Amino acid sequence: MKSFAELANPWAEDLMVYEPGRPIEEVARELGFEDAAEIIKLASNENALGPSPLAVEAMRDAALAMHLYPDGGTHYLRQDIAAHLDVDPAQVLPGTGSNELIELLGHVFLREGTNIVMSEQAFVVYRLVASASRAETIAVPMTDFRHDLEAMRAAITPETQIVFVANPNNPTGTMVSQEEIDRFMDAVPDDVIVCFDEAYVELLDDADQVDVLQYVRAGRNVVVLRTFSKAYGLAGLRVGYAVAPEPCIALLNRVRQPFNVTAMAQLAARAALGDEGHIAQTRQMVRDGIVQFEAGFKALGLPWVPTVVNFVLVEVGAGREKFVALQKEGVITRPMDGYGLPDHIRITIGTREENERCLAALARVTGKGQ
Ligand SMILES: Cc1ncc(COP(=O)(O)O)c(C=O)c1O
Repeated sequence: MKSFAELANPWAEDLMVYEPGRPIEEVARELGFEDAAEIIKLASNENALGPSPLAVEAMRDAALAMHLYPDGGTHYLRQDIAAHLDVDPAQVLPGTGSNELIELLGHVFLREGTNIVMSEQAFVVYRLVASASRAETIAVPMTDFRHDLEAMRAAITPETQIVFVANPNNPTGTMVSQEEIDRFMDAVPDDVIVCFDEAYVELLDDADQVDVLQYVRAGRNVVVLRTFSKAYGLAGLRVGYAVAPEPCIALLNRVRQPFNVTAMAQLAARAALGDEGHIAQTRQMVRDGIVQFEAGFKALGLPWVPTVVNFVLVEVGAGREKFVALQKEGVITRPMDGYGLPDHIRITIGTREENERCLAALARVTGKGQ
């Protein structure tokens, strides 16, 4: 009898496994915390305020209808997103988190002999999806933790199918400007797909917003990804979406599972989309948290990368060690060695109290406190 390893596609065994932020319950169990509530998770860029109360109400109502399959065509959610963004519903495809949309892009556009272009320190799932599709990844060095769009354009080869630009970028918390994007879009070959991943865009102040949807409306080969996991506080439900010209959406639609977005997720996402108050409150919490962390890092003498979103990259030295030590203090952060930044950790900005606890723990584990 052949083993599973012998039966498997030869490349499957070599695929890298995504390292997620560690769940509170798992860390509590491992480290013997009696009460999981003693632990704070600042590891996955979730919204510390929780879901929109309107979304919670929608989920409560939805619970009694969970014996029914969802609307497989996500009709009303697509309508609402399209109205919200001023695009056509046929240009929108919801998925199980924006992660699923990245995977669908892989299914449709990547194969052996092709490649993707991304920054060295950008969302790792692009790379994982490329290797699962047997495509190569061309990783371009960043400049001052920012995408070097000029270098990314220069890295494009005839085999390049997709350039991924996370804006703002995870894990650096930096973004590229409208001017840089426009220059890039003027220069990028027409037959390459540019995927702008805007997972954190709703957290930005209006003055910082950039407009890449104009390229979708103009029919360029552009895919914009967004999610309900971050500003909308619905990471547990797994719902995100792609916005792209209709022929692209039609292709992505062919390779998805029939009921990829749950009924509860559809209803909660629609409710959250209309809750502007919750987004405004979230933005304020993030702005306040950035000020708080920057003051804290300054006091501790720790260099950080100025951020525009709800997480911050800070240089603590021996990042994985500090990550482990912080966990023992009941604070879950994210080590960055997987991103080629062994001296950094990434901290999600939480509530004032959570940030305070994190900074106090950081002072203890770095020995830089008073
Ligand atoms: C840049 C970026 N894109 C996409 C995602 C995936 O989000 P989700 O699948 O929860 O929508 C994340 C999550 O961390 C992210 O940081």
